[in-house]
Amino acid sequence: MFLRRQPEGFVSGEEISRQLAVSRTAVWKHIQSLKADGYQINAHPHLGYQLLAVPDVLYPEEIRSDLGTGWLGTRICHYEKVDSTNRVARELAEAGAAEGTVVIAEVQENGKGRLGRYWVSPRGGVWLSLVLCPPVAPVEAPCITLLSAVAVVKAVRQVTGLAAGIKWPNDVLVNGKKVCGILTEMKSELDAINYLIAGIGVNVNLTAGDFPEELQHPATSLMLELGREVSRVNLVQELLRQFEELYGQLMQEGFTRIRNQWKELSVTLNREVKVTFLKEAYRGQAVDIDADGALLVQSADGQLKRFCAGDVTLRDGLP
Ligand code: BTN
Repeated sequence: MFLRRQPEGFVSGEEISRQLAVSRTAVWKHIQSLKADGYQINAHPHLGYQLLAVPDVLYPEEIRSDLGTGWLGTRICHYEKVDSTNRVARELAEAGAAEGTVVIAEVQENGKGRLGRYWVSPRGGVWLSLVLCPPVAPVEAPCITLLSAVAVVKAVRQVTGLAAGIKWPNDVLVNGKKVCGILTEMKSELDAINYLIAGIGVNVNLTAGDFPEELQHPATSLMLELGREVSRVNLVQELLRQFEELYGQLMQEGFTRIRNQWKELSVTLNREVKVTFLKEAYRGQAVDIDADGALLVQSADGQLKRFCAGDVTLRDGLP
């Protein structure tokens, strides 16, 4: 935004109208509409305008400012309230939305979690979905879910300094509690993906009261762990940058490099785990993820079992 780039304070209406090649009246009207959007702007009769505060809203203009990505976030669709950003993104993809379209909502009324669960999505979080058209076979789609988790962890570490880690397949934990979940959905033919929606939910500035008591796994927010609010705009920007970088690596070099980064950031590997799949529980040590992103668990008698899906509980102390 033009006012943001004037750190010394005031910028005259004349200067803005000259720089943007619009009339003084148009500048005034724009300032009024920014104020209506929650921007605090001081208007001085002689000195001009001064930006005092920006609202905590994920406006596309704020996210795009200094974003620096190539294709991801070229189109950002922002909503105050939707049922689920994944549902909206699917609808846009069906209507031909380009790869890299981002759907963001301040609130989700029917946020969708993995395994048919409900995802609590009040104000203060980052609830977004990415429209992707990866030129890979449908069986390779899990790689993109793992990639998403790597992108979130890197962004959280970069923006907050918190030691976030990944619990297989794609939960992001801080201090053993969940701060982010990822739900990937796709439409595909037998051998090609039409589109894939990577839905990412990060509990950024949620308070303890935002979380229902009956949660299956303990959850937290970045704010609760850090002791201060986190800029959601900064987090979304960093997430989009990291995602685009990793997606480029996946397209050019295949899954190996993403897999190695996932392993480095994992809090699942080399731990005793319980994996629940189709109501059956299996216990053992998580030893690796394979080339398809499946989790390999070794039981006490040495047997190795491979999981493509499931719910993991970490058994040695932390959830
Ligand atoms: C999980 O169960 O861990 C996955 C949660 C995924 C939540 C995100 S929030 C944005 C996107 N829209 C949804 O409805 N779900 C995903």
